[in-house]
Amino acid sequence: MKFSIKNGNPEQQRSACVIVGVFEKRRLSDAAQRLDEAAGGLLSKVLRCGDMDGKPGQTLLLHSVPDIAAERVLLVGCGHERELADSRFRTLVQKAAAMLNETGATEAASYLAELSVKGRSPQWKLRQVVETTAQALYRFEQFKTKPETTYRPLRRMTLMVTDRQALPEGKQALAEGMAIAAGKHLACDLGNSPANLCTPTYLARQAAALAKQFSTISHKVLKEKDMEKTGMGALLSVTRGSRQPAKFIILEYKGAQKSNRPVVLVGKGVTFDSGGISIKPSAAMDEMKYDMCGAASVLGVFRALGELRLPLNVVGLVPATENLPDGDASKPGDIVTSLSGQTIEILNTDAEGRLILCDALTYAERYRPEVIIDIATLTGACIIALGHQASAVLGNHPPLVHDLLKAGQESGDRAWELPLWDEYQEQLKSNFADMANIGGRPAGTITAACFLSRFAEKQHWAHLDIAGTAWQSGDKKNATGRPVALLTQYLLDKAAQ
Ligand code: BES
Ligand code: MN
Ligand code: ZN
Repeated sequence: MKFSIKNGNPEQQRSACVIVGVFEKRRLSDAAQRLDEAAGGLLSKVLRCGDMDGKPGQTLLLHSVPDIAAERVLLVGCGHERELADSRFRTLVQKAAAMLNETGATEAASYLAELSVKGRSPQWKLRQVVETTAQALYRFEQFKTKPETTYRPLRRMTLMVTDRQALPEGKQALAEGMAIAAGKHLACDLGNSPANLCTPTYLARQAAALAKQFSTISHKVLKEKDMEKTGMGALLSVTRGSRQPAKFIILEYKGAQKSNRPVVLVGKGVTFDSGGISIKPSAAMDEMKYDMCGAASVLGVFRALGELRLPLNVVGLVPATENLPDGDASKPGDIVTSLSGQTIEILNTDAEGRLILCDALTYAERYRPEVIIDIATLTGACIIALGHQASAVLGNHPPLVHDLLKAGQESGDRAWELPLWDEYQEQLKSNFADMANIGGRPAGTITAACFLSRFAEKQHWAHLDIAGTAWQSGDKKNATGRPVALLTQYLLDKAAQ
């Protein structure tokens, strides 16, 4: 999908389709008004016929509108003008893209970013149109021998601004939107890829490909032998049951001077989570191929960074492994020593995410990070707490948590804070080791974060649990690319400081 930006009048666009908004009740947006005037009142007439009254998400495609340069006009219902806010705006942009994709128009000129959205700038709207349109057209069809793509899919979109002076800032917004969309695209492809293809080795190759594509990015991969030498006993305990070798992937983005302390992103890369000896029930177990979506989001952010060239230093750490049962797999009751030296009693082999992350958090210290953010599909309990709308955020440094929440709000990739009070730590007590790897049923997302906090005590650290947001289940099964937008926004904000 290609995007460009231009200023000009709707009636003069030589395009396959002009997209304009219509408010409830049958009130034309500015761009629609101009088309109506040029076409001698045709739009008003059609609306009076009752085909559309502007309810949010309605669409109506008109062909051969007289005295208009475009071949088609797509009217998009926007609801009441004063009520137009973030979520509704995204929905109608998405509806317009889906609708156009089904028509013969392979290209369009959109005036939707000209609508006023409560409290949002023109740049914000442009970026959202790019990201939402790209996401609406995303398909994962690599493994279909006969692709189900539409006959003539939408390939190019021109974002229209009526004010020429808005062009420079608009171009920047477009570049940001496209970089984030590319990052989300990569994260979605990796997430959707089946676990027999997307192994730890495959993730390591993807990191190598990023390093090859962008001169600002370098990479390194630790093998199991290296992990042994380093002392990553917790990570290694998870991979025992797997025949695929584990990989510890390191990405470095250098956009600032060496003295600039980096942001370290740590992504959970369990390429398949069967639960191990504490095996999961078989219903929907296929979805555990998505258990590397934290890792995918880190790779996605690096993809965006490569394109955005932000003046920051960022390190990405991805412990990558499978979690499978085997005669040699870790067993409930096993005790392992983490890289930090702390011992862990593995009471449930299905709580493997924290075991690989804890060693990565300790490893992160050697970069003298300004902050560490880990991203993980860590707990089913997170879906019970927050559903599929918000990622959970927990951390030991309130300003960092605040910045992440703000970035979520701004990008539309939202997060919500859960408490990390000391009292919850008690649930991790073990009779035989320094701690257990599970804290019982109550507050499962919080006790998982408590476990991680013990490996980040000296650091400014936050944890994003994306179990409910990284993918959609059921017949809409698909990766979402979250939280690439949130994290990229966080880095954009940081670069602007
Ligand atoms: N990857 C899962 C968490 C998960 C489950 C994410 C379902 C999304 C949907 C994680 O490794 C896991 O199994 N967690 C356990 C922890 C428990 C054993 C303390 C869980 O949530 O049940
Ligand atoms: Mn698990
Ligand atoms: Zn897992």
